[in-house]
Amino acid sequence: MISFRDVTVTYPTGTIGLDGVSLDIEPGEFVVVVGLSGAGKSTLVRTINGLVPVSSGTLEVDGVAVHAASSRRLRELRARVGMIFQSFNLVGRVSVLQNVLVGRLHATPVLRSLLGLFRESDREQAFQALERVGIVEKADVRASQLS
Ligand SMILES: Nc1ncnc2c1ncn2[C@@H]1O[C@H](COP(=O)(O)OP(=O)(O)OP(=O)(O)O)[C@@H](O)[C@H]1O
Ligand SMILES: [Mg+2]
Repeated sequence: MISFRDVTVTYPTGTIGLDGVSLDIEPGEFVVVVGLSGAGKSTLVRTINGLVPVSSGTLEVDGVAVHAASSRRLRELRARVGMIFQSFNLVGRVSVLQNVLVGRLHATPVLRSLLGLFRESDREQAFQALERVGIVEKADVRASQLS
């Protein structure tokens, strides 16, 4: 589903972020990337949805050739790729469930999102996600109350 072929990323500063990476990740596979600070872990993850452009090599994600994708195609891809940044920001004053539902904002009409009216199917999916990581009982807790 995710296929890196000899991917190199060179930042405008000249720093090499990725150096000839080849890697295949199959659907449903759960992968952990471990490495020293500066090894290129964040760069690897950011290339997957096109936040960092590939300098050479090829990268396919769910059938999309990311290395050659138009900005429109990349936007479509990004709507389907979930990503939590290293310095992620939880919204402290709303519930854990509402924080998870942020992942559905791109598919929620503006008025509904302003009112916090998410679709029942989205809420169900958010509960399942919390269940998966073992904190479903925290769904209604304000995020600021988490450890
Ligand atoms: N925006 C950028 N511009 C220039 N160089 C960058 C940029 N982002 C990262 N780098 C450089 O690319 C290399 C890989 O960085 P990256 O952030 O991918 O490492 P990392 O493995 O995620 O590190 P950490 O464990 O500290 O999060 C480092 O040398 C870093 O300084
Ligand atoms: Mg990092």
